[in-house]
Amino acid sequence: MPLLVAALAALCTIAVAGEVSVADCATCHETIHREWSKSLHAGSWQSPVFRHRLDQTEDTRKSSCDCHAPGLSGGPEPVTELVLRDSDRGEGVNCLSCHMDSDRQIWSAGDTLFVPHFTATAAHYSTAAFCASCHKWAENSEFDCQDCHMPSATGGASSGKYIARQPEATHSSHRFSGSRDPEFLSNGAELDVAADGKELSITVTSLVPAHGFPVSKHHSLILAVAGQKSGEPVWSSEIKLEAGGSVKLQAPAVDGAVVELRFYPSTAVWPDSFYVVQRVEQ
Ligand code: HEC
Ligand code: HEC
Ligand code: HEC
Ligand code: HEC
Repeated sequence: MPLLVAALAALCTIAVAGEVSVADCATCHETIHREWSKSLHAGSWQSPVFRHRLDQTEDTRKSSCDCHAPGLSGGPEPVTELVLRDSDRGEGVNCLSCHMDSDRQIWSAGDTLFVPHFTATAAHYSTAAFCASCHKWAENSEFDCQDCHMPSATGGASSGKYIARQPEATHSSHRFSGSRDPEFLSNGAELDVAADGKELSITVTSLVPAHGFPVSKHHSLILAVAGQKSGEPVWSSEIKLEAGGSVKLQAPAVDGAVVELRFYPSTAVWPDSFYVVQRVEQ
């Protein structure tokens, strides 16, 4: 049974070797590994935005380093004190940061009994309490962040060379889509425009009940009226949406106006780049 032997060999790597690494997990969780490696969790140490902030103040250095490359922080309860790891910091928030404790126990929300490694179940992996270890503002949130940021995706939770294909199975996505994903952004807000004589009545409504839009102070949301798509605006206004809230504004009517809701990510680093979240052409 070559498959079983290979799987057991991989398991022994976890149980016995001095160092456990993300590469070990990737052997049997190929799809999840691929998703994670493109996420901002994997990129959190190297991200130009984080680098920029590090350069600014010593305070930032102290307060956020631990969150951007934490050591083994899995466990039965949400972790309150994270510790910056010594190695592989370039991997940012990795599988081990989220799933493994210092006894090498793997924790998760599921209760699968027969996996080739032991896993323990902790309910907070399905709730905001888990995310709040790092995203502190989510501490008392009643919303399950996983519903939007870890939606069900096709393919089994385990996959790879040694694993039988499970085409019908699904797993919780590890892409952690957020503000860098235009489609994800577009699902977060609606734009309604009505011409009212010489004015436009514009309503922007958040479809995110769990947090403000934009959630981070480093990004900005701009309502722009321009003569052409993504052109220089003749009128613009920065807005912030409360969780699930809406904003109403009046803007001057322009012939053939294009109204755009623009999302500027990390303005300190990329001042001129934006995504169009919604567009209405008059
Ligand atoms: C030898 C193959 C193998 C290796 C190596 C491996 N896993 Fe797994 N793991 C599995 C299989 C198989 C499952 C069952 C998942 C499924 O339902 O498809 C699983 C399940 C899990 C689960 C979900 C448990 C649950 O009940 O919800 C987590 C979390 C997990 N693994 C994390 C890891 C991490 C972190 C690593 C690296 C330290 C790792 N695994 C390495 C094969 C492996
Ligand atoms: C161990 C710390 C940690 C945990 C736990 C954690 N995150 Fe993060 N998360 C980060 C860091 C660090 C970043 C990068 C932030 C940055 O550079 O601006 C990040 C970024 C993100 C992003 C931004 C993605 C983007 O492209 O804009 C999303 C979405 C996100 N996290 C959601 C979650 C959710 C949902 C949970 C809970 C299931 C969670 N995080 C748990 C540390 C963590
Ligand atoms: C930011 C924290 C975070 C990181 C990083 C992370 N996970 Fe997870 N993982 C979770 C959470 C939270 C869940 C439970 C999701 C749910 O309840 O829907 C989960 C679930 C899983 C599951 C079970 C999925 C299912 O659908 O049953 C597996 C397997 C897994 N993770 C493996 C990994 C591997 C392998 C890596 C690294 C490539 C990794 N995780 C990185 C937070 C994380
Ligand atoms: C209804 C879907 C939904 C739910 C539920 C949700 N979010 Fe979001 N989240 C979004 C959307 C849409 C964005 C992109 C707009 C923005 O950045 O505000 C986003 C952005 C983010 C970002 C990216 C910030 C950045 O710097 O780029 C983080 C982190 C995040 N959410 C964490 C969470 C956490 C933690 C929870 C649980 C308390 C949660 N979200 C619940 C939809 C959701």
